[in-house]
Amino acid sequence: MLLRTTGRDDLKSIFSVHEQAFAGAEEARLTIELLADPSARPVVSILAEEAGRSVGHVLFTRVRIQSAAGVSAAILAPLAVVPDRQGRGIGGELVEAGLNVLADRGVALAFVLGHPGYYPRFGFQPAGIHGLQAPYPIPEEHADAWMVRAVREDILGAVHGRVACAETLGQEKYWVD
Ligand SMILES: CC(C)(COP(=O)(O)OP(=O)(O)OC[C@H]1O[C@@H](n2cnc3c(N)ncnc32)[C@H](O)[C@@H]1OP(=O)(O)O)[C@@H](O)C(=O)NCCC(=O)NCCS
Repeated sequence: MLLRTTGRDDLKSIFSVHEQAFAGAEEARLTIELLADPSARPVVSILAEEAGRSVGHVLFTRVRIQSAAGVSAAILAPLAVVPDRQGRGIGGELVEAGLNVLADRGVALAFVLGHPGYYPRFGFQPAGIHGLQAPYPIPEEHADAWMVRAVREDILGAVHGRVACAETLGQEKYWVD
């Protein structure tokens, strides 16, 4: 498997991976919109390929922590692996590769709104208890789905505030469901 940073020529492949994984075009459209959204930059966009076939993709986009504007942070959304290649570690490799790029760039924190059974294996933990709130209130029963990963050591506890996403991802429809 090859992991590589995407370019302009990859939009079709990226769309296709998300459309297959999510069995619908909503996340695929969001991903393409985010890649064109200046407020999402800098992004980390990594494609997984097997024998020339695109089988997975992860996107991290920029977020700001209100009241801690100097702290560099990103959010993972979305992550997708095509159905017939799931459960083989591709998703995990994409997440780890993305976190490594963030670390190289000096990004301090990575957020995700995702399954609490999946992301903790990469070091993500509930964000609310660290005083880091999602852009919109997360219902109590789903509170542990809003997670943060310290990319820079010793950052958790040192920064508090509400997270503001890129314009595209910051729309309420992506957060209240
Ligand atoms: C979630 C997804 C990206 C994981 O990719 P993957 O390559 O299949 O994952 P990996 O092989 O790295 O890891 C497999 C593990 O993830 C778990 N897993 C997969 N999807 C999961 C989900 N939606 N919730 C919780 N755990 C999940 C599997 O049970 C497996 O767990 P195990 O290692 O304890 O057996 C992929 O299944 C997918 O694209 N799903 C549809 C789209 C989606 O839900 N994306 C995530 C939200 S942004």
